[in-house]
Amino acid sequence: MSTMESSKRGGPARNSQRTIWLALLFGQAIVAVAIIMLIRSRPSAHPQQWSEHATDRDALRLEGADLKNRLESWRRRATAVALDPNDILGPGSGALTNGITSTGTGAIASEDVVDAAATCNPNGHPITAVAPLNPKYLMRPAAEVEAENPEFAQLLATYANDKREIMLGLTNAVMICKNTTLCWWNGGNILESFLEILERSNITNHLIGVTDDQAAKYLSDRAADRGPTAFKINWFRPNVRIPDVQANTREANRVSSLKFSLLQTSLQLGYHTLITDMDLVYISNPFNELHRDADIESSSDGFDTMAYGRINSVHDPTMGWGGGGLFMETFTINVGCAYIRATHRAFAVVKRAADELAAQPGWDQQVFNTHLLTQSHGEYASPYATLRVMDIDKFVNSKRYFRTRRDAYLPGASSSAPTPVMVHFNYHPDKHARMLCIMDRYFRGKLDACDTFPGGSDPGTR
Ligand SMILES: *[C@@H]1O[C@H](CO)[C@@H](O)[C@H](O)[C@H]1NC(C)=O
Ligand SMILES: *[C@@H]1O[C@H](CO)[C@@H](O)[C@H](O)[C@H]1NC(C)=O
Repeated sequence: MSTMESSKRGGPARNSQRTIWLALLFGQAIVAVAIIMLIRSRPSAHPQQWSEHATDRDALRLEGADLKNRLESWRRRATAVALDPNDILGPGSGALTNGITSTGTGAIASEDVVDAAATCNPNGHPITAVAPLNPKYLMRPAAEVEAENPEFAQLLATYANDKREIMLGLTNAVMICKNTTLCWWNGGNILESFLEILERSNITNHLIGVTDDQAAKYLSDRAADRGPTAFKINWFRPNVRIPDVQANTREANRVSSLKFSLLQTSLQLGYHTLITDMDLVYISNPFNELHRDADIESSSDGFDTMAYGRINSVHDPTMGWGGGGLFMETFTINVGCAYIRATHRAFAVVKRAADELAAQPGWDQQVFNTHLLTQSHGEYASPYATLRVMDIDKFVNSKRYFRTRRDAYLPGASSSAPTPVMVHFNYHPDKHARMLCIMDRYFRGKLDACDTFPGGSDPGTR
């Protein structure tokens, strides 16, 4: 300003000369400012205000804030290309960046959420973060859980794949069905078929919990018969106490309670776990078909578009103009084949379902779905876990295969449907006979193997 004022005092000629000179100077200054701004907007060129060797509090605070920003930016970009930050930073690393995502290790503690809201300010607006999880349902530190379950931790470390993924199943002697009065699927060794399926589809990252001596003996005898070069079946005897309320209920309840308990442990140890029933056929390796973009990616009991959620409506004629209304209907997921990622939100669903089942007898399937799908309302907060429903023509249940979309799958010789990844015999009592027909059809090329099976449970139904 003072230069401009002084220029007013000169004569006209001198004045114009000075104006040119000033304009040049001013122009250069603008270019210089622009260059500085350019440099400033490129973080890599930003001069570090901290030293890597600093030990004083202020410098460390600056360095920490800078690292945090860079980590947040990296985590967002990594997540966008389906790279799991935990694979690189280790499980629990979400504590470093928190509260931004609704999935993953996000929002792990209220302090983190507050802190994230204060430091992350996209487009000049404060971010909104979902409510933090109840600390009761957060995963405990992996090291602590490992110290309590050293054998299981070792097995997971040995058999998980390089993405820290494991297929986890449970079995007992009933699955072998030596005594047909004990099994209810008209006989047939489901365990043996499942083991053959693991081998056929080369699912090496599996782990089977064996709950009785008879099944354990079956597996060790089988391994001895087949010799050391055969496909290796990874199994162990879980050492988990069944909650008293489930102890006297149906065998299925005892099994589900054990399943949830092992699942909680594997998740807390940082393993993404595909829990599996045995009454299904993996025609190819399911790990090659996962999207890995949700806390829970599961097969469905749905056999049409309701599997994914569809809109429906009510019509109440006595209401006249206001007689309509829309609602969503979503079929329950089937935890007989469900990929649960090691995230706090997936864990919260599992733990809430397990705690409920430990307190009162219940059907795991129903309890799990209730916790996953019920919306937050009033004082009730859902775990806000995200769900992906597996493609129902890749992970097919037996009702869709034999009934709803029968014309696409059968007869086999003229089938128009693509080869499924998995078929689950959750809708039919003659499970094993149908498992065998699917194995014959897809593993052994007997195209008509399933053609004569009825659509329903009764002969002649379609
Ligand atoms: C089969 O199981 C039933 C019910 O537990 C038992 O009564 C029967 O003796 C068993 N049969 C054989 C051959 O073990
Ligand atoms: C089976 O999978 C393992 C581990 O992923 C791999 O090393 C092996 O080559 C596969 N075998 C076949 C026959 O594809």
